[in-house]
Amino acid sequence: MMRTISSIKEMQALAEVLRREGRRIGFVPTMGYLHEGHLSLMQKAREECDIVVVSVFVNPTQFGPSEDFDRYPRDPDGDSMKCESAGADILFMPEREDMYPGGPAVYVMVEGVSDILEGAVRPGHFRGVATVVCKLFNIVKPHRAYFGQKDFQQCVIIKRMVAGLDMDVEVVVMPTIREPDGLAMSSRNVYLSPEERIAARALYRALRRGEGLIRSGTKDAAKIKQEMAAVILDEKGTTIDYIEIADPETLSPLHTASDRMVLLVAVRINKTRLIDNLLIL
Ligand code: PAJ
Repeated sequence: MMRTISSIKEMQALAEVLRREGRRIGFVPTMGYLHEGHLSLMQKAREECDIVVVSVFVNPTQFGPSEDFDRYPRDPDGDSMKCESAGADILFMPEREDMYPGGPAVYVMVEGVSDILEGAVRPGHFRGVATVVCKLFNIVKPHRAYFGQKDFQQCVIIKRMVAGLDMDVEVVVMPTIREPDGLAMSSRNVYLSPEERIAARALYRALRRGEGLIRSGTKDAAKIKQEMAAVILDEKGTTIDYIEIADPETLSPLHTASDRMVLLVAVRINKTRLIDNLLIL
């Protein structure tokens, strides 16, 4: 039977007991409205760890004032059933007031990679992400934590936070789970109208176009980005926040294709903002 915990103190006490019993704790932090992408992380944790903890917390500090915090999709009962079927042992669902009593008092800032790409469009976003993940690590005390490559920059930032603050947690990054037509699964896909859902296929199509150009010898990043942009702008209602070709470790933009790079796209389809990426090794 899965256990649901909302108290921070109770979660910490339980994690402490489990650790003392020698159990390996695997942790999957989420904002809920769970889909196959989240479930793939839970499955990996189930394979590798003794205890699987999933958190569901729509973290207010990572949303900007004009972003979708209030309308972010929520389905606690559905999430609970999905966690249970995926074999989670503990579902941790803290209250906002307990996580940030009187508002956030301490922030974790990962320098260098937090204010580019997603961070440039969403100021303060990664400060909120690093802060909440740090807090969740201190509450759940995991040996391993599982993240999706879908949020590539987030993975870079979490790894840097763990290294920079000497956190004793192993970060595991899992591949992006996609719909049959290539659209990366996301809780935000629910915002898309049927027409927008069709336009949304352009993100993955653009990434594959970029990959195709690289594989066939195109080196000039500007040329590749231009072709990718054309694929996206071919769809109605799309605007591009960024298209970038970057070093996968530092996320610095590359001017010339190299042997290791990540293609990153952020696109608005009318009001819905979607991101995706493709690693080319
Ligand atoms: P959320 O968007 O709910 O995602 C939770 C985890 O699932 C993240 O590690 C994310 O990268 C992963 N994920 C999302 N879509 C995926 C997909 N299609 N395939 C594989 N993995 C996928 O990311 C967050 O929440 C928050 O920022 C969080 C880390 C929980 C901090 O609040």
